[in-house]
Amino acid sequence: MSHVRHVLILTVLLAAPASAQNLDSLLSRMTLEEKLGQLNLLSAGGRASPEQMQLVRAGKLGGLFNVMGAENTTPVQRIAVTESRLKIPLLFGLDVIHGYRAIFPIPLGEASSFDPEAAEATARAAGQEAAAFGINWTYAPMVDIARDPRWGRIAEGSGEDPYLGSLMAAARVRGFQQNIFATAKHFAGYGAAEAGREYNETEISERTMREVYLPPFKAAVDAGVTSLMSAFNDVAGVPASGNAWLTDTVLRREWRFPGFVVSDWTSVAELINHGIAGSQAEAGRRALTAGVDMDMQSSIYVDSLAALVQSNRIPLAVVDSAVMRILRAKQRLGLFRDPYRARTAPPATELRALARRVAGESIVLLKNERSLLPLAKAGTIAVIGPLADNKEEPLGPWHTQGRAEDVVSVLQGIKTKVQTVLYAQGSGIDDTSKAGFAAAVAAARQAKVAVLVLGERGDMSGEAASRSSLGLPGVQEQLLEAVAATGTPVVLVLMNGRPLILEWASDHVPAIVETWFLGIEAGNATADVLFGDVNPSARLPVTFPRVLGQVPLYYNHRNTGRPPDANNKYTSKYIDVPVTPRYPFGYGLSYTTFGYSNLKLSAARARVSDTITATVTVTNSGGREGTEVVQLYVRDEVASVSRPVRELKAFRRVTLKPGESRAVDLRVAVRDLWFIGLDMKPVVEPGTFRVYVGPNSAEGLEATFECIP
Ligand code: NOJ
Repeated sequence: MSHVRHVLILTVLLAAPASAQNLDSLLSRMTLEEKLGQLNLLSAGGRASPEQMQLVRAGKLGGLFNVMGAENTTPVQRIAVTESRLKIPLLFGLDVIHGYRAIFPIPLGEASSFDPEAAEATARAAGQEAAAFGINWTYAPMVDIARDPRWGRIAEGSGEDPYLGSLMAAARVRGFQQNIFATAKHFAGYGAAEAGREYNETEISERTMREVYLPPFKAAVDAGVTSLMSAFNDVAGVPASGNAWLTDTVLRREWRFPGFVVSDWTSVAELINHGIAGSQAEAGRRALTAGVDMDMQSSIYVDSLAALVQSNRIPLAVVDSAVMRILRAKQRLGLFRDPYRARTAPPATELRALARRVAGESIVLLKNERSLLPLAKAGTIAVIGPLADNKEEPLGPWHTQGRAEDVVSVLQGIKTKVQTVLYAQGSGIDDTSKAGFAAAVAAARQAKVAVLVLGERGDMSGEAASRSSLGLPGVQEQLLEAVAATGTPVVLVLMNGRPLILEWASDHVPAIVETWFLGIEAGNATADVLFGDVNPSARLPVTFPRVLGQVPLYYNHRNTGRPPDANNKYTSKYIDVPVTPRYPFGYGLSYTTFGYSNLKLSAARARVSDTITATVTVTNSGGREGTEVVQLYVRDEVASVSRPVRELKAFRRVTLKPGESRAVDLRVAVRDLWFIGLDMKPVVEPGTFRVYVGPNSAEGLEATFECIP
């Protein structure tokens, strides 16, 4: 017995030179400089610079990011684990957002699949591929709720809904963390940037923060995420990177988050611009004492905090806790045991197959008059538009190591399905010249159908890409009108990173397909849908407004005291546009149709500890097999605080053969119907709850149940 124990202890010691042999003892051997060094994170331009290598040697760096390739991570890790005094391994971070080299759909697109398993699968694959290139830590998932499509980073998240956003957040964390560490970002409220202007201030009540913006972070924490990134924005005057309420009270005390918080890029130094610190040292003190453990790119912790610790203005215990969180993370990742983590990437064929499948699941069919789609694989097709023969833009924002040469363009995808294709670019994405219109119109005239591939450049969304107008850039809308005027039926294929304003197209174009930025298999997946090899099943994770003046427009709004009434002027609406969106949250069509009937709830009365099951019969009433996303929304009719008119609480993807009916169950735990009460505590209040089950946030059958004390 004792022999076995000895062997075990020995194995642990041999395998882990600095690990379970007690991080406390490691901490006790660290100088203050070495401690602050662990809290320091710097970006490398592809490989570590000589100065950065020197910092590693001196124990003044806890991690590096943007080191590309194992041939570049390995030598610097070797310096850390052989030449630095305490031999503490480095973290290697990177923004692996929707793929490493194999690029998958942007997160907003993938959220349209309403398929968390798909998100988990792409995150797992991206993490494995990144790990093979020396990366052990990604700055994803981005879980910011976004209600304003002007904000370009809406592309990087899961849209406007906390429930869908939470499921996607947890799925991506699980997926990434099979191979590398994940980071839920940006904590918190970044998506509420006023006027959709990047990095702008936010004004979020504690209630809305807790009900809307925080749940996806909580889901990431519950899924075991290792790190959170503190955001750039302030929340009602308190910057998120120096906000003890967020990073200490909520995150550490309430949620018991055991991992570490990394700042966003120089967001510690930016506390000076925010006007809450007058010096670098003060900015560092505010951030570190608020609970931001690792300083990305400001170098303030390592350069300016030692004196404050020595003079007790920052308690040493604060530094020690931050260091321990980072050391524990390194230990959990196995870095002390295996600092180089040699990994193999998934086979390229596997990555492509996954990219094509998930891209197909991410395409939303917005309109399909007289069943123009799917197209027959015969006859002449005109393929027009600046994004048709384009291999760069489908990579979207944040495409890491993605390469245009890996992308199948929409034109290429269509050519694999049909023989006679006439191509004309028509115009650039945002230029003003109509010189190419004539050739586009001529191509359309000769074709039985014109497919127009229009939208945004990849870099028109993502970071620092707010737009003040949401139309098609440049002369694309005029190109669309010119081609439509030929009388040849038009299919509009959209490529974009945010909801667009599509009024003219929605009124005049018979078929509209939203493809977002789909990644390397964009062309094949789009063609699969256009020609019916894949029946579209995605649903909008975000509302599409009619006009910019409606923004912010989201489905889970409160009712107001004067809900819109067409017959009463003095109700909440506009005098010049309808109050409704163009396409509501949860909306999307299929090549078949689905009917809903017979909604039943498992009980008329339920306690908070109960679960209600809603059963509805869904029938495929069309002529093809198809997948419906059955959605369940709840409204708390009377509460001490005004509650949203609807909130998504459950959904299921259900595949039905033509004519097939199925009783579909959706379960809701009554305790999940909480809101933040008058005392700012979560509560489920007794009373009537209305349940809606249907195809999107604006339709559905209704039933009610009573929550009893
Ligand atoms: C700034 C971005 O806001 C953040 O999302 C990203 O992870 C960092 N830069 C690092 O690249």
